Amino acid sequence: MTDIQSIIANMTLEEKAALCTGASAWSSTPIERLGVPEMIVSDGPHGVRRVPDVHSMGDQSLPATCFPTASCLASTWDVDLINRLGQALGEECVALNVDVLLGPGANMKRTPVGGRNFEYFSEDPYLAGELAASFINGVQSKGVGTSLKHFAANNQEFERFAISAEIDERALREIYLPAFETAVKKAQPWTVMCAYNQINGAYGSENHWLLSEVLKDEWGFEGLVVSDWGAVHDRVKALQAGLDWEMPGPKERRVTAVIDAVRSGELDEAVLNEAVRRILRIVLRAAETPKGGTFDVDAHHALARQIAGEGMVLLKNNGLLPLKNPQHIAMIGRAAEQAHFQGGGSSHINPTRVAVPFKEVQHLAEHAELTYAEGYPTDNSFQQPLIDQAVTLAKTADVALLYIALPSFKESEGYDRTDLDLTAQQVALIKAVAAIQPNTIVILNNGAPVAVGDWIDGVAAVLEAYMMGQAGGGAIADVLFGRVNPSGKLAETFPQRLADTPAYLNYPGENGVVRYGEGLFIGYRYYDARCVQVRFPFGYGLSYTTFAYSNPKVSATTFKDVDGVSVSIDVTNTGLVAGKETVQVYVHDRQSRLVRPPKELKGFAKVELQPGETQTVTIELGFRAFAYYDPAYHQWVTEDGEFNLLIGASSADIRATLTVTLHSTLDLPCTLDRESTVRDWVNYRRGQPVFEPFMQQLTASMSAMFGGGDNGEGGIGMEMQGFLLEMPLLSLLEFQESALPRPAAEIVDDLLTRVHAL
Ligand code: BGC
Repeated sequence: MTDIQSIIANMTLEEKAALCTGASAWSSTPIERLGVPEMIVSDGPHGVRRVPDVHSMGDQSLPATCFPTASCLASTWDVDLINRLGQALGEECVALNVDVLLGPGANMKRTPVGGRNFEYFSEDPYLAGELAASFINGVQSKGVGTSLKHFAANNQEFERFAISAEIDERALREIYLPAFETAVKKAQPWTVMCAYNQINGAYGSENHWLLSEVLKDEWGFEGLVVSDWGAVHDRVKALQAGLDWEMPGPKERRVTAVIDAVRSGELDEAVLNEAVRRILRIVLRAAETPKGGTFDVDAHHALARQIAGEGMVLLKNNGLLPLKNPQHIAMIGRAAEQAHFQGGGSSHINPTRVAVPFKEVQHLAEHAELTYAEGYPTDNSFQQPLIDQAVTLAKTADVALLYIALPSFKESEGYDRTDLDLTAQQVALIKAVAAIQPNTIVILNNGAPVAVGDWIDGVAAVLEAYMMGQAGGGAIADVLFGRVNPSGKLAETFPQRLADTPAYLNYPGENGVVRYGEGLFIGYRYYDARCVQVRFPFGYGLSYTTFAYSNPKVSATTFKDVDGVSVSIDVTNTGLVAGKETVQVYVHDRQSRLVRPPKELKGFAKVELQPGETQTVTIELGFRAFAYYDPAYHQWVTEDGEFNLLIGASSADIRATLTVTLHSTLDLPCTLDRESTVRDWVNYRRGQPVFEPFMQQLTASMSAMFGGGDNGEGGIGMEMQGFLLEMPLLSLLEFQESALPRPAAEIVDDLLTRVHAL
């Protein structure tokens, strides 16, 4: 490897400043005299959007495989498959001369209306983190880099370039950052892309805490931080915060600003050198992978079909599916002819080919007669004749397949949705067809949950096919005809109504600020805690077979947090066809000092089972599976006590519960001070030798003062213990100041000295 330090030593200030800004829309600045080549990056995430001219932002890109988007990928719950996807993307990057793929996205789906939800994996940080890490490892195994984005809290498109996401420390640590943390620690992406938005008042590009303290120092991120395209406001401030590479370029004034800042002493050259070192490391590493050649278009299309088949989620089935040799099929809905398989915006791929749903059904149902009706227009108008025409065809068919795609005027990068609804015409179409054809199957193409209204009661089956990628048309046919047994499970909750969703009252924000008032409670964490009925829960999805869970076991019923435990369960395919099942393990803390969600996903595994086959699934739960982030200590904390381990087929379908007892090995620093309540004192276990005798005496004298009875209730009708717990110790003592031998403050200070010395 070339000696980076000696290159830096030979670089002029001008060269260093230039390297930190792109040379074009998609390339870095080469330094020919020192043998530093250019590096080319391309979107991402679910395909390679390589524009032939690196100076153009929006030209038609070279053909590449458009894989399913992240919502569909996540529903596979299959880390191995996502790794294979990553490898295929890496191969396409090599062939298309791309050094770094701009993806994956690891942001949380805070609200289902987020315009870019289709590019993000989940509402759950554990699931998103595991999938992102797998994706990155797959791509990078081919000698091509990734860009984990958008760091952080990029959860809405409303005012996306500027809005400040106001999030408390605990919600950041437990919900919005862990997917990034896992991906960084498990996969070391070559680059991390900052978010456009602000996080607690500091732009993603200028957030020193996030980019330097958390990402680089705490998590050990070794790569470079790149700006989102146009996210830098103050170049010098961004460098100081840890933003290494500004994109896109060229930006002559930015380069000059950096040079001037070093010359004036405003910017320490060591800071610039560190950014240069990080950039050079990645640029030189990228150059080690020879580019060019071709990729296997057919094999990647087949992989895209396989992934789509595994990511689609069967939401309802009255038994009509899989189809049994229908002779006459009415294909209804524009999306049957014009596959809706990806979202709008920077991730838009020019596919190598597109599987047309109509043709794919025809292919698998060779002898059936297929008819087609458009069903709904491209725009939001209402056209009854299109419905009438569909109804006429559906009436005489054995089965009606309704391909309902959420139009891009409702869902895309760049803007959020205003509701969860299908168009009025689409809903009317489904109802009208279902009214005359009991064998109606709805196939949905969308990137995020839609409101599933009462129309669902009238139809035989619903398949959520998501933005299924270029081969999705074939994958739909595979599922409909049983060539693929559906195994996708939702990586996000389908709510009943928008008004039920966790961020409803705190979205989209105002005056430049969006307050994440729901805190930790997003997705199923919220619905569980509030007992809100949902349409389809997180982790849900049907199969053509059934699975029985039995023999749940845990490696130890009592364990130390640092050792963790492993949980196992036997899963049996009790149906007639082979299938795959995703076992999910959620952890419930039975008692905790801080509020916690009722349950949180901490492990999962997908298994394939032949009819009658049983396999034992084992899932490891480590320290973090039980810990919460305590802002009082600024660290992850475990508490002694009992936890329930919930093993389920979805977040709402728990098949077994095991209870374990954790012993915390943490020795937390004492945070007691003069303001601490009696509860704080009682909860500080290490201080008990000092505090307990004191407390006994105090309770006795307080009871005497307020006249306590035998039943534990005081003379003024309150339970003394509960009353005392809420008071600061100092205030409590001050109540009896005259009876004390010394001033209350002195007594508390003395106790504090003694407990801090323990
Ligand atoms: C998007 C990024 C994308 C970049 C380059 C930005 O607007 O937010 O996700 O990678 O453009 O196209």
